[in-house]
Parts: sequence; C-alpha cells; structure tokens
Amino acid sequence: MAPIISEINPHLLEGLDPENRGLCTLEATVVTGLEEVACEECKEKLGANCVVARGRLFIDVNPEQVPEVLKLRSIDNVNIVLSMVKNFSFPSEREKCFEQLYMLAEKPDWKKGMEVWRKTLGFEEEPIKEEKLLTQDFCQPRPDIDLKMMKSTSQIVNNIPRALLPKHLKLDEDGLAKEDEVQQPEENDSVEENKEVSHTLDYCLSGPKFRVSCNRTGSGHIFGSPEAARQFGAGINEKFNWPVDLKNFDLEVILYIDNEFVYVALALTREALFKRNLTNFGRTNLRATLCYNMVRLAAPKPGEVVIDPMCGGATIPMEGSLTYTKSFHLGGDNFGQAVKRSRDNIDWLVKKGNSMPIDVAQWDATKLPLREQCVDIMVSDLPFGKRIGSKTDNRVLYFHALLEMARVTRIKTGRAVLLTYDHRSMIKSIKRVHTLWKSGASRTVNVGGLSAVIYILHRTSLLCDTGLRKDLKNKEKSSPVSPGGSATN
Ligand SMILES: C[S@@+](CC[C@H](N)C(=O)[O-])C[C@H]1O[C@@H](n2cnc3c(N)ncnc32)[C@H](O)[C@@H]1O
Repeated sequence: MAPIISEINPHLLEGLDPENRGLCTLEATVVTGLEEVACEECKEKLGANCVVARGRLFIDVNPEQVPEVLKLRSIDNVNIVLSMVKNFSFPSEREKCFEQLYMLAEKPDWKKGMEVWRKTLGFEEEPIKEEKLLTQDFCQPRPDIDLKMMKSTSQIVNNIPRALLPKHLKLDEDGLAKEDEVQQPEENDSVEENKEVSHTLDYCLSGPKFRVSCNRTGSGHIFGSPEAARQFGAGINEKFNWPVDLKNFDLEVILYIDNEFVYVALALTREALFKRNLTNFGRTNLRATLCYNMVRLAAPKPGEVVIDPMCGGATIPMEGSLTYTKSFHLGGDNFGQAVKRSRDNIDWLVKKGNSMPIDVAQWDATKLPLREQCVDIMVSDLPFGKRIGSKTDNRVLYFHALLEMARVTRIKTGRAVLLTYDHRSMIKSIKRVHTLWKSGASRTVNVGGLSAVIYILHRTSLLCDTGLRKDLKNKEKSSPVSPGGSATN
C-alpha cells in the first residue's frame, strides 16, 4: 500500500524549490489503491519524477508540461503545490494556532504557482499586483474598521464614503446620528458617492476571487477545518488584497493538514477529470479514471477484443476505446435502459469528434451470444447487490458469469479484470472456477469511501471443465434463482 502523505519526503520534490524555475510540483489525486498504476502512466507519458502517497501522486514537471498532465487518464484532480512543511508544530493555544495559520500565507512560493495557475485557467489579469508583508497584529482588536462598534464621533467616520456608513453613523446637520429617518441622497450626491464607493471597491476587489478549502486529517488539532481555512484565507486576503468569494471563486487554494504535515496547493482542475465521458448518468456509474486504470491493468494489445459483459452505461468500454484505440471494445447489459444510456453516451462522445472502436449490445452475461475463445480480455464492474438484488444473487451470478467468460475467453492468454464490492461472493466463486481462471494479484481500492476489490484473473489452458458444467446443470434444476435475472447495480 502507498505510504501515508506525512511519510513522504518533501526534499524529493525538486519543483518545490523556489529557485528552480524549470520545475513545478503538481499533486494529482488518484483512487486509493491505484497510485502505482497512475504513476506508471505518468512516467510512461511524461517521463516525470513521481512520488507516490496514499490517494495521490506528486509529479515534478516543467511548467510547459502542465497541459500534458491534465490529459492523463488515471488521475482525478490536479493541483500545483506551493509549499510543504513536514513539522508544522501547532501551539497549544487556539489564538496562537490562528496566528500561525494566518502567517502561513507568507510561506508559499506564490509567484511560481500563480503563474502556472493563471496560464492553465486562462485568467487574464496579472493576479499579484501588490504584495504586503504580513505582521502579527491581526489578533489585535481593530475598532477603527469595525463599523458596528464605531462611535459617530470617531474621526474616521469623516473619511468613510457616506453610502458605506451604517445607519447609526449617518450624522445630520447638527452632528447627531439620525435614528429613524435615513436621509436619501440627492441625485448629484448619489453620483459622487457611487464614484467614491466604486473607487473603494475597486481598491478592495482586485485580483482573483478566491476561497480556501481546508482538508484536515489527524488528531489533536484544537481548531476546526473551517477555522483553519478562515485564518489562512485572512492572511492571503491581507497579503494580496484578493477578494474572498466562497461560491463564485476563480481560485481555489487548498490547505492540507495531516497532524503536523501541512501543505498549500492551488487547484488546476475546476471539475474532476473523471466526469469527462458521460452525458446520460446511471445510478452506479464508475469514474472514467477508475475505468482507465482497470483497462490499463489488463494491458490490451493492438487487435485484441475487450469485453465488458455487464457494462451499465458503458463507462469501461468507452474509456477503453478512447485510450486503447487499436483494440476493439464491446459492452453488453441485460437491462434495456442501460444499453440505451450506453448508446447516448457513445453518440455524445462521437459528436464531440472522437472516433471510437466500440459497440454495445443487450445480452445476458451468463449466456453470451459469442463463440468459444473469441475474446482476449474481460473488464467489468460487477453488480454487488447493495441497492438492488442480494448477495445470494451475486454468488449465483458470479459463478455463472465466470464460467461463461471462461468459455468465450482465449485459453492461456486471456485475462479478466473484475471489480466488486462483494468480496465474499467473488472469492467463493473464484475458488469454484479455479480450473479455468487462475488468480493474479488483487487490489483493494477505495471508491467514494467504499472498499472494493479489483481481481485480476488469467485464463488457464483448460478448454472446459465438464465437472463444473454438470454441477451447473444440476444446480439449475434445483436452484430457484435465475443466474441472468439478478442484481442491476
Ligand atoms: C455495477 S453495474 C455496472 C455499472 C457500469 N460500470 C457503469 O459505470 O455504468 C452492473 C451492471 O450489470 C448489469 N447486469 C446484472 N446482471 C446481468 C446479467 N446477467 N447480464 C448482463 N448484465 C447484467 C446490470 O444491469 C448493471 O447495469
């Protein structure tokens, strides 16, 4: 299993060195359990230095290579890392922690990171117009800027544009605050005031609208994630004068805290890359990035036939046909709606200009309309009986499907990459078909907080296990569960 993030050594990442303008360090998030597969893709396509941690890769690339990183198929989100601190010791007082988090805004190499961010997201303005050195006085009370607390007699009131003043500070001619009656400015006044307000706002709202998202793990912190985000955000706001906007932000700054390991990054992807292939969504769509990693584990060669016998919305065959274009990809499902969804998704991708060696069909995975040994690879995300169906159904279905897959898959060279959340049913079924399928290394992956296993199987040299077929026929006579009519998730 990949090491947890706090175990990595930031010194291995050359892009974090502010002096090294030729390299920047990117963080790419990956489905936990598939980091090595993603790392292989990265090395193969970019030849880049890659450091693996649980659920992510850190990649040193030339800033010019960032668009190439965004084209990788195995990764979900990409951020540029600005700084990484291994021993960020948080004090035992909350106020002191807040101070540290505020002052943290001084640490990162903002210039290099913002340059890459700006180019990648096409932000037109120069984001860093001014840069203020932070002081530690942020914790001091500032009644001069707290309009609610301010007295109408304060000198400062005279310098604040009238339109910005709260009601209790609007003075009448006698110098008294008007309680009930709020004076409406005359038209000319209003123009003047608006100019003043807009001038004030222009000054305040310069640069990208930003928000800080804090991702905190570990124990012993005496502050919450929103508090950490707020304090760090306050530092950034003070330093660059960038406006905060939690909803319509241009820039997302990520503050990651794991015990005493702290790093700061900027998001380079607005939407997770795994959402790329779908227009018609089902209830159990697999992430495109996970589909890619599964197909990659099967390593299709040119001319090979790759099948997903229970394809749902065709997420696996679609990703396969977009990336392994010299193989043929076929998907099938016994549920008519799923086949229609698959066709919609494929048509949408074709309309976007993709040429894909793919087709879909309606079939029962336990009775495939295919001759013996015509398939090279099976890649599938099996139904797992959580939402519809049951584990009893799975046991029957998995066994029957594995037998049928063995019938149509080439002996000796054929392979299968199968994902399921129902480990027990799968292990029992694989044991029963061990004469036809030999188990390879399996991988435990974490998908949206759920633990699933990817099983890698290799077709043995046995053409057919007559004992199993007989067993199957006897079971069919006595079993009330139909193998093909089961779970649809
Ligand atoms: C987990 S879903 C696949 C989801 C798919 N990977 C996606 O991303 O959309 C499993 C699929 O298996 C199909 N299925 C269940 N039993 C089947 C059978 N006997 N033959 C063919 N498909 C079957 C279900 O209809 C369902 O669409």
